[in-house]
Amino acid sequence: MKIEGSVAVVTGAASGIGKALAEKLRDAGARGVVVSDLDGDGAEEVASALGDGAMAVRADVADESAVEELVAVTRERFGAIDLFVSNAGLTVIGGFEAPDDDWRRAIDVNLMAHVYAARAVLPAMLEAGRGHLLQTIAAAGVLTAFGAAPYTVAKHGAVAFAEHLAVQYGDRGIGVSCLLPQAVNTPMLTASVTDHEELAVLKSFSTVLEPEQVADIALAGVEANRIHIYPHPEAADSFRLRAQDPDRWVADMRAMRSGRRA
Ligand SMILES: NC(=O)c1ccc[n+]([C@@H]2O[C@H](COP(=O)([O-])OP(=O)(O)OC[C@H]3O[C@@H](n4cnc5c(N)ncnc54)[C@H](O)[C@@H]3O)[C@@H](O)[C@H]2O)c1
Repeated sequence: MKIEGSVAVVTGAASGIGKALAEKLRDAGARGVVVSDLDGDGAEEVASALGDGAMAVRADVADESAVEELVAVTRERFGAIDLFVSNAGLTVIGGFEAPDDDWRRAIDVNLMAHVYAARAVLPAMLEAGRGHLLQTIAAAGVLTAFGAAPYTVAKHGAVAFAEHLAVQYGDRGIGVSCLLPQAVNTPMLTASVTDHEELAVLKSFSTVLEPEQVADIALAGVEANRIHIYPHPEAADSFRLRAQDPDRWVADMRAMRSGRRA
């Protein structure tokens, strides 16, 4: 899709990758950018810095009625939505023993939010015969996040859902892209790796990209209608290894996790 002249909604846009995406969309000539976040004040701040054509909407992506309202107010202001960026997410650490509430929170915010967004925007996009969904997922959605099973499982589900939509509706003008970054310099990364030793291992193997670099790569991927967008080439290599030789991939990931990998 062409970003210039489009109307885009970005969730989780008060900070990090979402904020960078909102700014880059504006730079690329989007005529409307809706900056949405659970943090309403943060969203206001980002939207007012973007100026005319930007609007802040406070919304919890895990609440379907809030997502419906976000879509309704956007259409009221701008007439249509060309690109919906489901970017909000959160890390939920722990393994099989993590409490059910943690699993549910991971699934609600990192997976069901994409389902709620699709329900809210796809019928009108299908009627118009065009529209694009960009889902900020994570390389963990095709690999695994050390020490974070609920996060990994929810992100895998999000990739599966996005691919399903791409196959199901690609012939009807709908583009779908999964943004699959590894380490990105945002408050989420800082909090995760400071609090959790296993996630800190990632930083020794992954380049840490700036959110602006990730946003540039993401929007180029949207314009080219790519299903998988890998800002970190090492994550794409690992995904290929997983497909070609799952046993070697598991061995490689175990070596990385334990620090044995050179
Ligand atoms: N930072 C990384 O290293 C990294 C790596 C891979 C994937 N990601 C993914 O990128 C996305 C953005 O993360 P980030 O690194 O920019 O983090 P961030 O903490 O800087 O920003 C996340 C934003 O999402 C908002 N948010 C959280 N829960 C929400 C909810 N229920 N409803 C609405 N907004 C909510 C937060 O208020 C925050 O502003 C997430 O989906 C995350 O999983 C991040």
